[in-house]
Amino acid sequence: MHDVLARIETVRLVPVIKIERAGDAEPLGEALLEGGLPIAEVTFRTDAAAEAIKSLADCFPDLLVGAGTVLSVDQVARAVDSGARFVVSPGFNPRVVDYCIGRSIPITPGVNNPTQIEMGLERGLDVLKFFPAEASGGMALLKAMSAPYGGIRFIPTGGIGPGNLRSYLSFDRVLACGGSWMVKSELIAAGDFAEISRLCRRAVELARSVE
Ligand code: 3PG
Repeated sequence: MHDVLARIETVRLVPVIKIERAGDAEPLGEALLEGGLPIAEVTFRTDAAAEAIKSLADCFPDLLVGAGTVLSVDQVARAVDSGARFVVSPGFNPRVVDYCIGRSIPITPGVNNPTQIEMGLERGLDVLKFFPAEASGGMALLKAMSAPYGGIRFIPTGGIGPGNLRSYLSFDRVLACGGSWMVKSELIAAGDFAEISRLCRRAVELARSVE
């Protein structure tokens, strides 16, 4: 496993961030670290994504910064140029995945069926995003779908929160869980970074309570 993915496994959480103003990146980075969550997946859902990644990567050497919702090779290049250390995509785009593999950039493409898992296996990937986790069938689907593929681990994302986090993290095929519940874009926009820290701390406590 790539060392960046191994680091994600130690945290067991991937906060999925949508940030509208790059100027919010610095207080957000402080809030994440204050909440005990030294990781950030900044999604390319806003124009501020690349600048926010750069600001987080420059200001916080201890923060593992990645790019999410990456849909094209061009976005991978912009993300990595800005300082992203890992790439996440909602689906399995072979061009994006192969570009990352060719450059040793850790990529976790989204899958929710066995055919997509086999596309990852064929390329030597050992960690995939399970997306959209809850809407696709949640734990029941993940357990059934992962059974034939012993070497693969998953980062379920989509519909996860304090109510179901422990159930996902209790499954040994789950490397970490992703989600936006602790870094809601409304809280970022409102500048409520204290609440973000509180939600992060609560998520970290919940994750640590799973043996
Ligand atoms: C993602 O991009 O991975 C999801 O939008 C996160 O899903 P959530 O908002 O349900 O946590």
